[in-house]
Amino acid sequence: MSESFMQAILVSEYGGPEVLKLKEVVRPNPSAGEVLVKIHYASVIPLDWKIRDGSMQAVYPQTFPYIPGFYASGIVESAGPGVTEFTAGDRVFGMVKGAYAEYAIASGIVNGADSEYAIAPMNELVKMPDGLSFEDAATIRAGAETAWKVLFTEGELETGQTVLIHAAAGGVGQFAVQLAKWKGAHVIGTASASNLDFVTSLGADQVIDYTTTAFEDVVKRVDLVIDSVGGDTENRSWSVLKQGGILVSLTHPPSQENAQNHGVKAKFNTKFPTKANLQTIAQLIADGTIKAEIDSIFPLDQINKAHEKSKEKHGRGRILLRVNS
Ligand SMILES: NC(=O)c1ccc[n+]([C@@H]2O[C@H](COP(=O)([O-])OP(=O)(O)OC[C@H]3O[C@@H](n4cnc5c(N)ncnc54)[C@H](OP(=O)(O)O)[C@@H]3O)[C@@H](O)[C@H]2O)c1
Repeated sequence: MSESFMQAILVSEYGGPEVLKLKEVVRPNPSAGEVLVKIHYASVIPLDWKIRDGSMQAVYPQTFPYIPGFYASGIVESAGPGVTEFTAGDRVFGMVKGAYAEYAIASGIVNGADSEYAIAPMNELVKMPDGLSFEDAATIRAGAETAWKVLFTEGELETGQTVLIHAAAGGVGQFAVQLAKWKGAHVIGTASASNLDFVTSLGADQVIDYTTTAFEDVVKRVDLVIDSVGGDTENRSWSVLKQGGILVSLTHPPSQENAQNHGVKAKFNTKFPTKANLQTIAQLIADGTIKAEIDSIFPLDQINKAHEKSKEKHGRGRILLRVNS
């Protein structure tokens, strides 16, 4: 079979945004259990630049060259042997093989989403319901799934409980606020002045400007804290939890010693949502129950600007790359 080619972002060494290069590379073919997806939108998440600059190499050692990007939406181009759930033309979203995974395509390049085509394992893809746009679909694995995880799978949030969500305007936070309200919880969010109205519009019952108010002075006895900031924010969060409450960190394994001292639980990346959970989230966005705020959309060849924007850590919603649409 003759080789086909595609445009993809290639990274050949750790470094700043300048190591992100648009190249023509061999288009991969799906093996057994895999699907080739024509990418429409790929999401840009903080982990993308943390891997690229080498700061995560102790946790995610990277093989070079690699195509960055974890999550995307697109259309099934072809399916490998043994794939019965997907056929060419299906609209899908999901995780393509992670940029850190031990996986190489034919030309020796590690597969990723920031490319015209990418390989996804069939169990990492979900069909898009009618009414869901490709833009919104690309935000699900890159934010809404994490919000579901921290609230429900890890955080065990119940109707009527109170949750404090740090960074409530961010790619994860925006969904955490809406999903917690959907569940019937009382929601408190933190953001800077420019995002207070936005977080209120998502349904938060109380919004705290973290630049002018110490949240621990005004928040007491919550059931759950979602912390995607870490450091000092984590240290100051223990005292706002009620006995037996839960802190879920998104940045690093939180201190079990501090948790014990305060009579609370602390969790980090122990459990992940199921495919059924993802289908529920997709339907909630498709029918307008929750909305996906998109901070900005960059063409694939401006991925360096997208990474720089993500690194500023002051976005409102998710940053996307437009690839084939
Ligand atoms: N472990 C996992 O499974 C997992 C999954 C997803 C994400 N994460 C991690 O979670 C973190 C957040 O991810 P994300 O995608 O939501 O990031 P993001 O979209 O870049 O977050 C940006 C938001 O953070 C807010 N922010 C910045 N500093 C803050 C502070 N001190 N207090 C409160 N809010 C603050 C900003 O609000 P203002 O602009 O109003 O300041 C902005 O809205 C990242 O470190 C990411 O790597 C982990």
